[in-house]
Amino acid sequence: MHFLITAGPTREPLDPVRFLSNRSSGRMGYALAEAALAAGHAVTLVSGPVALPVPAGANRVRIETAREMFEAVRDAIGGCDVAIFCAAVADYRPVATAEHKLKKSGDRLVLELEPTEDILGSARSVFGFRGYLVGFAAETERLVEHAQGKLMRKGCDLMIANDVARPGIGFDSDENEVILCLPGGSTRALPRQSKKDLARELVAFIASAA
Ligand code: C5P
Repeated sequence: MHFLITAGPTREPLDPVRFLSNRSSGRMGYALAEAALAAGHAVTLVSGPVALPVPAGANRVRIETAREMFEAVRDAIGGCDVAIFCAAVADYRPVATAEHKLKKSGDRLVLELEPTEDILGSARSVFGFRGYLVGFAAETERLVEHAQGKLMRKGCDLMIANDVARPGIGFDSDENEVILCLPGGSTRALPRQSKKDLARELVAFIASAA
């Protein structure tokens, strides 16, 4: 099968040297790419800026902004059987990017932000993707309830929920502990483990369900 995987953060520029971003390391998405390749699948990895080597055999497409990720996914998703959206996409970007470095003044600076493209939410409705669709839900409260809502709204086959308020798992760490949320409301909790081991388990689950 051909897997499309999004990974890492996006960067939304304020001026030539500054941007809005987040703490995503890309490790979960890259571990998924490695696990899919090891299981014999083809992988297109659409990635924001991360400090990780390209998994051998992956077709990595590098992007910086949410808009660039949207365009890269739009161009690649048609040929894929499975799409896993693991990237931490910025929800908002500055309305304007200054051409020159913003100067400091004594006054307050108010940033005006606008919503970015909802890439996962576009998979079915805009890109017409008919394969197996997987999202991640990073939540700090009412984990399963929020994840189930996202699963339904975005037309996913699987939503992988993790509690990012807990230390040692999720963002910028080596381990993760997730709950699989499926259409119809059923859930399955996977124990805390390394992102590499979890990725192997997730790829096996997804490949058998897809
Ligand atoms: O940020 P949030 O928890 O809502 O993300 C849920 C899912 O949607 C994740 O799989 C993420 O990769 C995806 N997403 C996206 N485009 C966005 C925001 C989130 O594809 N603009």
